[in-house]
Order: sequence, then structure tokens, then C-alpha cells
Amino acid sequence: MTRKGIILAGGTGSRLYPATIGISKQLLPIYDKPMIYYPLTTLMLAGIRDIAIITTPQDQAQFQSVLGDGSQWGCDFTYLVQPSPDGLAQAYMIAEAFLAGAPSAMILGDNMFFGHSLTEKLKAANADAVGGVVFGYQVQDPGQYGVVEIDNNKRVLSIEEKPANPRSNLAITGLYFLDGTAPTRAKRVTPSARGELEITDLLQHYADDGSLVVEQLGRGYAWLDTGTHSSLLDAGNFVRTLENRQGVQMGCPEEIAFNAGWINTVTLQEHLKKLGDNAYSQYLRELLN
Ligand code: G1P
Repeated sequence: MTRKGIILAGGTGSRLYPATIGISKQLLPIYDKPMIYYPLTTLMLAGIRDIAIITTPQDQAQFQSVLGDGSQWGCDFTYLVQPSPDGLAQAYMIAEAFLAGAPSAMILGDNMFFGHSLTEKLKAANADAVGGVVFGYQVQDPGQYGVVEIDNNKRVLSIEEKPANPRSNLAITGLYFLDGTAPTRAKRVTPSARGELEITDLLQHYADDGSLVVEQLGRGYAWLDTGTHSSLLDAGNFVRTLENRQGVQMGCPEEIAFNAGWINTVTLQEHLKKLGDNAYSQYLRELLN
């Protein structure tokens, strides 16, 4: 079965108030495009086009107006709601009918990944039909994340959510390739001390079976955070620096869809009419030429 995508864009982003009052955090700009373009294009680079976008009920209309039905990018978007922020694992129950038994790749709406050969890593994860693949990334402050401890053979020794005393500095990033059993397994997860259905507990189920693979994203990768005012600006500056230096776009759904042959020249030209005249649309015009 073809893998389907989930973008989880729930939550209030309250740590970003007042910047996000009345605005979905994941729609704030990161330099020249909405934040959600970055996780969306990460799924697209993996080859995934059938994608559920999970938001709070009150935010859904904003996302629909920004992202539409996905056809402008050769994708198919389904909108689902998470009524209250009860944890990442709940997304699999919300998306159960949408997934209809298919394997999935879920990405958090504020997670940004960059790096050489990222596409190859994503495609390889997509090709794994059984079990789960997650990505580990070394961070200075692991206690803020799900933390995984692995042995030399990549076997998982422990998984803990925001541990006070982390056993490793390997954070589990917000991108999860899980097989079709994820919704069933998610139903067995019980609420944590903070009252959430933790993704780490769902991953533990896979690890208990020996079917969880942790791929490491090494030094050459950037996994960026956008959770604070300061990290939001840092992410924007990071994108600006790379785009200006190389003259290539990051997280550009039009470019990825066009290069993959998911949209043709006519569709791109039609879409361009809506984008106005700016550096982003000029880039796409050059692509067409
Ligand atoms: C969530 C997950 C955590 C993961 C992180 C990645 O944390 O619970 O395991 O490492 O996303 O961004 P939260 O954003 O809910 O604090």
C-alpha cells in the first residue's frame, strides 16, 4: 500500500504569544514562506502526496485557505481536527479512517529538516513497509524532547519523553514513519503524567517488538526548532542565508512537484498568477524557463 502522510499542526503555540494570538503558529512565515511548507515538502521529498492535515477545530479554516486541496502541488489534502491537545499518538486514531490500513509518515507542523541526501534517507524510510523508522539528532538540551538510547547495532535500549536525566543526547525528531498497525497500537497507549498520549509510548510498542529503527541525522543536517521567539528568527535567518548564498529555494512545494512531474507547466503557470510579483514567484518563473 502507498504510504500516506500526516501533518500534525495542532496546539496553540502559546510560547510564541503575542506573535501567534489569533494566528496558527505553523502559518507564520519562516523567511519567505509559511512554516508548514517545510514539513509539507519533507513529506513530498519522501514521495508522499496523499496527506492529512490535523489542526485544532478553530484553526482549520486558516489552513484550508492557505493550503487549499493540494492539487496546485500535485497533492491531495484531507483536513482533520484534534479537538484538544491530547498528545501526538492520538493523531493516529484521528487519522485511522484516512489511513485505512496504509503505512504513514507523520511530521509535526513546526519541524524543519535540511541536509544533503535527506531525500535519499526519506525515500529509504518510505520503502520500509514493516515496523517504524524514526530519526535521531544530537542536541545540547535532550531533556526537552523524546530521547532514545541505542547500542552500536542501532538497537533501541530505551526511549523516554522529556527525561530529567537523559540517558543520551539523541533527540527523536518529529518525523515518524510507521506501518499500518500504528492506529491499533496507539489505542493501547495510556495517558502520561502530563495527561498526553505520548508518541514515545507508541514508539516503545514498536521497540518492544524489535521493529523500531533509529536512523541518525549526523553533523551535516539541520533540524530546527521554532518554538520560541528567538528560535523562530534563527530558523528564518538560516533559510535566508542558504537561499541567498546558493540561489535555490528550500521547502518550495511548487519546485518539488514540478520536478517530480506531479504538476505540468500549465498548472504551474496558473498557480503563479496567484503568487504576485516577488522573489519567490520570480524563482518559479525561471524554473519554467
Ligand atoms: C514532541 C514529542 C517529542 C519529540 C518532539 C520533536 O514534543 O513529544 O518526543 O522529540 O515533539 O519536536 P512536544 O513538541 O510535544 O514538546
